[in-house]
Amino acid sequence: NSIYLQGLGDVRPALPTDLTRLEGLAERSLSAQAFGYVAGSAGTGATARANREAFDRWRIVPRMLRDVAERDLSVEVLGTAMPSPVLLAPVGVQSILHPDGELAVARAAAAEGVPMVLSTASSYSIEDVAEANGEGPRWYQLYWPKDRELAVSFLERAKAAGYTALVVTLDTFTLAWRPRDLDQAYLPFLRGIGVANYFSDPVFQKAIGGPVTDANRDMALLHWVANFGNPSLTWDDLIFLRDHWDGPIALKGIQHPDDARQAVDAGMDGVIVSNHGGRQVDGAVASLDALATIVDAVRDQATVLFDSGIRTGADVAKALALGAKAVMVARPYAYGLALGGQAGVQHVLRCLQAELELTMVLAGITRPSELSLETLVRA
Ligand code: FNR
Repeated sequence: NSIYLQGLGDVRPALPTDLTRLEGLAERSLSAQAFGYVAGSAGTGATARANREAFDRWRIVPRMLRDVAERDLSVEVLGTAMPSPVLLAPVGVQSILHPDGELAVARAAAAEGVPMVLSTASSYSIEDVAEANGEGPRWYQLYWPKDRELAVSFLERAKAAGYTALVVTLDTFTLAWRPRDLDQAYLPFLRGIGVANYFSDPVFQKAIGGPVTDANRDMALLHWVANFGNPSLTWDDLIFLRDHWDGPIALKGIQHPDDARQAVDAGMDGVIVSNHGGRQVDGAVASLDALATIVDAVRDQATVLFDSGIRTGADVAKALALGAKAVMVARPYAYGLALGGQAGVQHVLRCLQAELELTMVLAGITRPSELSLETLVRA
């Protein structure tokens, strides 16, 4: 309601409440390279479009006279209590978007009590982001590097800095065919920005023979590229992760029910149904279309989260109705960060949560757990 009250006076929200408008505004304020990095997707963008279209094929059926005066959007996911079933997805090198990058996002997340998932490819260190996040809830996302010692170092640093759950991204052991980044020479662009989280790591520094300086920066970047992902990993390697992480682990990038079952068999606590926002396999199945069969396959043996294509509160409600316990969003808050720093990220979170709450109560629903397939029809 505070958003409506602001609108009644002279004070208008600094950013539009229709979050789909943020992309156009960000395009005007960011460089072509920075905008291309966020908005871009794999190949022709077919999967990114399919992610959005999948939401249009489901419609919510509102129910009346159900006493919705008291509502509670809070959920607990992988041991973390959160005010609503929404998390901030991992997004790498955020200083491309705003000088404060992940620090601004960490402060916004803490102010709203919303968990952030810090990317391995962050532009601030694990420790600096933890400090900015303070008492806020935070998870760590691992891009599993070739060098196992480096992987262990990341996990130990994250644990020591208070990240409670681990998200292991499986769909990006190499960057996909992303025409916008290729055309705009993304890696040379990144050279000027660096990947501080790697550069600050003692194991990384040992591998390149000392701290990163102007003199060895190119070599450091090449070492990063060579080590970024490990294409030879198999399901058996997950034992190694279990041995080095005490808290809950969720696998991100799952699109097939058999992979979800294997995750359960490997003792994983959660799976994140995601196609990386359409940034990896062009022509891949829409993430929302993969969700229901995965929920069926996993039943209650693991927590199912969802991302790729969430833009509105109604989208969140649909993903929950199809069985996700919570959702993650990426591009909307990345644009919020670009346009308004910490306040921009908070604006996005507040809009999304407010619209989710309104959608739910107007549909006769007071708790996320009440959302089910009975709430939806096929369009
Ligand atoms: C991402 N994503 C991502 N995922 C991850 O596991 N580690 C990362 O470092 C990044 N980096 C990243 C950068 C940018 C600019 C984007 C847009 C995305 C993927 C992200 O976590 C998420 O899976 C999707 O982006 C979700 O789709 P939407 O919300 O962007 O449609």
